[in-house]
Amino acid sequence: MSTQDELKHKVALAALDYFDDYDMVVGIGTGSTVNCLIDVLPQVKNRIEACVSSSEETTKRLKEKGFVVKELNQTGPLSLYIDGADECDTHNRLIKGGGGALTREKIIAAASDKFICIVDESKMVNILGCFPLPVEVIPMAQSHVGRALAKLGGQPELRQGFTTDNGNIIIDVHNLKIIDPLKLEGEINNIAGVVCNGIFAHQKSYATLVASSKGIKTQKI
Ligand code: 5RP
Repeated sequence: MSTQDELKHKVALAALDYFDDYDMVVGIGTGSTVNCLIDVLPQVKNRIEACVSSSEETTKRLKEKGFVVKELNQTGPLSLYIDGADECDTHNRLIKGGGGALTREKIIAAASDKFICIVDESKMVNILGCFPLPVEVIPMAQSHVGRALAKLGGQPELRQGFTTDNGNIIIDVHNLKIIDPLKLEGEINNIAGVVCNGIFAHQKSYATLVASSKGIKTQKI
């Protein structure tokens, strides 16, 4: 039996196969699985010209390893984006944002040709929503957005003591059973004051690499 940390390390190693070209400008996500990726990324350093990072934390770690980190506005579209997730369903639709970096993550996913998601098997679900859905909100809209999220059937809870890299708050929404992720993603984005929500159905992954004690499975739709 492998521990969850061992699985994160294994799936991070498997993601290196996608660095299949030279002079690549790649998007790098945020979280403990991505931290495992950054630890092994020096193995493909000769293929990477620069990285675009989804958080201050990832930027710091990439720079410590000697990678060039550029702004998305400097680079144009990216060929590859690698990131983790909090939940993934059988259609590669995701919940992200447990680390609070969902907005930059969604921007990078949208700007990338291929989004490869890396997870351990504990993240796989049939229906999204057991993990509380993170929603990034402009601070003055907190109560308005909270009421609107409650009307959609969830139980909103402010993430205490947390400010995003963009200077906003996160509301985590509990007990949503997300039967139609595409629809709910759009509905939540339409609430005034919402910057972004953690459903990645419009920006689902191209492939999800899933680590279990049996090995790595690639889920492609
Ligand atoms: C950060 C994220 C992460 O990808 C997600 O929270 C998974 O993190 P971890 O790899 O630590 O389980 O969306 O905003």
